Amino acid sequence: MVSAATAIDSPLTFEYSEEQLLIKEMISDLAQKEFAPRAAEVDRNHRFPRENWNLLAASDLCGLVFPEQYGGAGLDSICYSIVVEELAKACATTSVLYSAHVSLCAKPIYIFGTEEQKQKFLVPMCKGEKLGAFALSEPGSGSDAASARCTAVLKGDQYILNGSKNWITNGIEADYYLVIAQTDTTQKHRGLIALIVEKGAPGFSFGKLEDKLGIKGSSTCQIIFEDTPVPAANVLGLPSEGFKVAMVTLDGGRIGIASQAVGIAQGAWDHSFKYAKERVAFNKTINKFQAIQFMLTDIQTEIDAARLLTYHASGLQDRGVKFTREAAEAKLYASEMAMRNTVKCVQIFGGYGYVTDYPVERYMRDAKITEIYEGTSEVQRIVIASNVLKGK
Ligand code: CAA
Repeated sequence: MVSAATAIDSPLTFEYSEEQLLIKEMISDLAQKEFAPRAAEVDRNHRFPRENWNLLAASDLCGLVFPEQYGGAGLDSICYSIVVEELAKACATTSVLYSAHVSLCAKPIYIFGTEEQKQKFLVPMCKGEKLGAFALSEPGSGSDAASARCTAVLKGDQYILNGSKNWITNGIEADYYLVIAQTDTTQKHRGLIALIVEKGAPGFSFGKLEDKLGIKGSSTCQIIFEDTPVPAANVLGLPSEGFKVAMVTLDGGRIGIASQAVGIAQGAWDHSFKYAKERVAFNKTINKFQAIQFMLTDIQTEIDAARLLTYHASGLQDRGVKFTREAAEAKLYASEMAMRNTVKCVQIFGGYGYVTDYPVERYMRDAKITEIYEGTSEVQRIVIASNVLKGK
């Protein structure tokens, strides 16, 4: 069942379908029972929760949005948002390892892949036998994605990769990496190519493992290519379409991060709501104070708004409508909302919010990255501006 705290969290005009409600209850049960209890330990030990991934696979969630013919569940994007939100409410690390796999690796293979590539790579990813990652950013290029310097040179029927990629979610644990590399620096974004690289390829190694502020169980690391051969059969889309593959991938990925931010904020709110009902000050529980009530109501209002923006972008994606702007709006608002409000949740806990005995400090640390990865808030504003102002 959805918890009592959660049941009051959605006075939305949006109506869930029966299927979406079933998914919400199922994932909420799984996440609260299995992932929430170990979230603090995963964070403390910077440990990739392999057992959580195995449970997601056993629950047939790894290919949620892909057709059954590829081993997926054939569900819609709103179901995907619901799953990511429920995971993030319990354990943000688990939500990001899942969303990087689905949105950033499996999805572009589904959209741009040949039938052969889908059978070879997507099917095992949907079954949860293989984990995916996305490699776009580099030490010297983050927001300016088109200036990637990692090179891919065609020799016979192979591309030879040289260079490094930074900030790779699932970096160490992944089996497949969607790598964006440069074939011709004079062409800038039109010189970029998208390649599926398998772990264990010659000359493929790991660099620095990052010591992060939050989502500490997700292994974020640098990956390095030294004369790494990749079969030309692993090119995703046309060789000149790497930038397009990356941008289309990020459109979908940003809905995942918006969902994650909604989940982090809702998780922090749920804990704060419970705490406020129990904590006594001046002879009454602190939820009787208007100052606390106003904080809780303001936070919940903003969470509801962020969730609606997120579902709106998901719904457009499901209907096959261009959703670049709406995904950027959802990510921008939801991530800044989560950061702003997890700070307030820490405030509700007072001193107890600042120590690891309670989970709100973790939610606050986990929230920050949602304003940065898959495009910073500033990049989202650029994307929104270019789409809103187009033709004006
Ligand atoms: N869909 C399809 N095509 C798109 C597109 C989209 N959403 N956005 C842009 N394009 C196309 C344009 O139409 C244009 O096409 P032409 O070849 O016909 O000209 C081309 O791409 C270039 O577009 P821009 O001129 O807008 O490109 P730009 O160089 O100015 O960059 C940008 C725009 C929005 C800033 C982009 O670089 C960007 O999104 N940067 C952020 C990258 C990012 O999010 N990185 C995060 C990496 S993932 C991560 O965080 C790690 C992890 O593991 C989670």
